[in-house]
Order: sequence, then structure tokens, then C-alpha cells
Amino acid sequence: MGSSEPHYKSKITPYVFACWILAAFGGLMFGYDIGISGGVTAMDDFLMKFFPHVHERKLHAQEDNYCKYDDELLQLFTSSLYLAALIASFFASRACTKLGRKPTITMASSFFVTGALLCGAAEKKWMIIVGRILFGIGVGFGNEAVPLFLTEIAPQQHRGAINILFQLFVTIGIFIANLINYATAIIHPSGWRVSLGLAAVPGLVLFVGSLIIMETPPSLVERGKKEEGKEALRIIRGVDDVEAEFNQILAASEQAKQVKHRFRRLFKQSSFPPLFVGTIIQVFQQFTGINAIMFYAPVLFQTMGFRSDASLLSSVITGLVNVGATFVSIYAVDKVGRRKLLLQASCQMFVSQMAIGVILSTHLQATGTLSRGLAVVVVILVCTFVMSFAWSWGPMGWLIPSEIFPMETRAVGFAFAVSTNMIFTFVIAQAFLSMLCHMRAHIFYFFSAWILAMGVFVLFLLPETKGVPIDQVEERLWKRHPVWSKFYKEEGSEYGMA
Ligand code: BGC
Repeated sequence: MGSSEPHYKSKITPYVFACWILAAFGGLMFGYDIGISGGVTAMDDFLMKFFPHVHERKLHAQEDNYCKYDDELLQLFTSSLYLAALIASFFASRACTKLGRKPTITMASSFFVTGALLCGAAEKKWMIIVGRILFGIGVGFGNEAVPLFLTEIAPQQHRGAINILFQLFVTIGIFIANLINYATAIIHPSGWRVSLGLAAVPGLVLFVGSLIIMETPPSLVERGKKEEGKEALRIIRGVDDVEAEFNQILAASEQAKQVKHRFRRLFKQSSFPPLFVGTIIQVFQQFTGINAIMFYAPVLFQTMGFRSDASLLSSVITGLVNVGATFVSIYAVDKVGRRKLLLQASCQMFVSQMAIGVILSTHLQATGTLSRGLAVVVVILVCTFVMSFAWSWGPMGWLIPSEIFPMETRAVGFAFAVSTNMIFTFVIAQAFLSMLCHMRAHIFYFFSAWILAMGVFVLFLLPETKGVPIDQVEERLWKRHPVWSKFYKEEGSEYGMA
């Protein structure tokens, strides 16, 4: 499809590059949290201060490998953030539409910094929980505004790669958090404070960055600021002649203006395809089982019989693989397209999860450990799994929903994708330790079955978005798809009625 699409002129200037990187710090905040929670909840000092009964159980945990961390309140520590983020993403979508992407990113960073400082200084359990809720609101605002921002300022032919900077920074955040946990685990009794409080540093970078970056042209035009929008387009494209692209944005905004109630418009028949695809992609992303590994890597590795520090080290290795493999998708996404990456990865993830399931169910009993050799094989399999996630479902979960909605429903539609991600991240965070305790190694078969379903979905239902201008998705993507075009038979009558 790509070569027949229009290519608008653009140059990458240092300022534009800075805008991409500064905004992508929103991803770093999200990733930092994902990476830090698992390590902190494995720290004895932290458990003794806030969850003494869990610590007590851990000390006498010889009884069952799969169940020693199963505790509702401890899981609430990890998951409260995602509940806050899920609700916040809808407020964020309103802020994105009414105020713009840039101020929404400023708000996100303010929540991040406050939440991080409160957690770092916490003396009581409520302070930890409130701190995480504030941080979670930051995640809701950041995850809504940053991917949209990157998609909208990217030149169309590099849109995938630029949007994936968000995911790249997510993975860097996870990795840095793993390293920090590795270092702070030996600082007694307050290592956990350093781990949680340090999130304020990238939060501040994002805050300053959000004041420097430029508002996106579609957002300016959508809010009636046409001249500013055109000027912004000239700056971010680094060329004077932006007429053709600007006219396309204007046309999209004219169409968007006819829709009075965006939220209601989202539930019309012709919005179903992007809404369904945008949300199911996020459901699938979480049901790969990635966060069972990201949140609980240290816990998981301890379950498999690694010592506490060896398990942190193993999760540092997976963190590194996660960052490295994301570059593969940055390189490939605008060349081979989204679908091929997703299909290849579904196969690789399926094989990895099945193999982990077989090894653990045949060799890891409720007590005892894996042999050294098998433990190494499991770490390698975890790496092949993480690697394929990192060039597929990880980045595509944020990229595809940001590029499949028309302008009028983009922010609110994307909020559904973000909140779906949060709901299912929450579900996995909340349920994983209990599932591990009850399903034991079979949990890996459970994820494998989901991965199979995802491959089938991509094969038949996911259209290729590579090279399609975001302001022409209805015409060029949905109305041309063998299945989804059926939803557009009576479109046209829907505009203006909402
Ligand atoms: C997902 C996270 C996941 C991370 C791993 C993100 O795209 O949304 O849930 O932990 O990738 O790199």
C-alpha cells in the first residue's frame, strides 16, 4: 500500500528531534513504574515496614514455591496505580481535545513528580497507596497524550518508528528501574525509598520538556487555531511548503467539526472497527503474559529457585533484551509493516511460553528448585519471549490505536485503548500471583492459548496501517478492508446527527 500513498516533504531538524525525545520521557515514567514495583515488593525492608505479615510468610516459605507471595494487599500496592490510570485516561482525553496534547503532558509530569516524592517519603501505608494513585493519574495522562503527540507530529513515512520511541522509553524505564532495584536492594533499611523516589527525576525532565515541545498541528487546527497550526507544521516538518499536508489536516478538521458529541459518535456503527481493533489490541498485549514477567520477574525467578540477588540480575538481563529488541521494531515497522512483525512474534512467543510451561510443570515442584542447567534454559526462553514481544505487541499496542481513528474520535477512542491496557494490566497484576499459586506452571499454557488467538486475529482482522495518512484512515483503511468495510455501508448519514 505504502508506495502509492502521498509523501509530504519533511526534514528532521534538531528541534523536532528534541520534541520526540522529550515527549517520549512519558514512556520512561510508565516503564520505570512497571520495573520498580516487582523489585520493591521483593525487598525485606519494604515488606517489614508495610506488609509485615507477607514478610513473615516469606521467611517460612519453604512450604510452597508457587504461593509464597500471594497476598491481596501486596497486589493492591502494584495494581492501585493502574486503576487510577484507567480512570484518569478519560479525563486526559478531554484535556487532550480541549486544551491540547502539550498541556496534557505537563499535567502528567506534575502528577508523576508529586506521586514519586510521596512514595519515596512514605511513613504509612496510606502514603504509599496515595503516592501510587497520583503516579497512576500521571500514567493515565502521559499514556494518553504522548503516543498521540508522537503520531501526530511524525512525518507519515516514519510514523511507526517515531511513535515507538514511546515504547522504547518504556523499556528503558523498566531497565533503569531494574538496575536501580539491584543497587538499592543492599541499602538498608531505606533502599526502597530511593527506588520509588527516584522516579521524580525523569518526571522533572518530562515537566521541563513539556514546556519546550510544540503543540501538534492537528490539535491546533482542531481547536480553531489554523494559522498557528500551519506555522507549527512548518516548524516540525523543517520546510516552508506544507500546503498539501496542511490542507489534509484542514479537511479532517472540517469533518471532525460536524460531529457534536465525540463520545456518542464513538458508539456509532462506523466507529466500531477502530474502536474494536484499538481495544482488542491492548487486551491481547496484556494477555501475552508480558507483565507476569515484567512485574514479577524477581519474584518469578525466586520461585524458580534463584537466590534473591541472582533473580534481580536475571531480570536485568530480560530488561536489556527488552530495550535491544525494541530497536528492531523501530527499524522495521515502517519497512515491513505492523502485521508481519506481529505475526512473526506470535509464533515466537507461543513456542517460548509453551516450552517454559513444559519445563516448569515437569521439573518444578511446590518445594525444591530447578537444576542450574534448566534454570538457565528458562531464563533464555524468557528472553526469546520478551524479545519478540518487544518488536511486536509491545510497541504496536500503542502505535496502532493512535493511528486508526479519524480526527473526531482520535483522542476519546485512544482513551479506550489506554484504559483497556490499564484494566488488563491491573487484572494481570492483581491476579497473577494468585493464578500462579493455583494454576502453577499451567499458567504459561494459558498465555500460550491467548497468543494463538492473537495470531489468528492479525491474520484476518488487522489492516496494515503502514504508510496510510492518519487523516485518511476511514477512506483508505477501513472502507477498503474485506470485513470492516461492511460497517460503512450507510455511513455519511451519521455525520452531524450525533
Ligand atoms: C506494555 C506494558 C509492558 C511493557 C513491556 C508496554 O507496551 O503496555 O504493559 O510492561 O510494554 O516492555
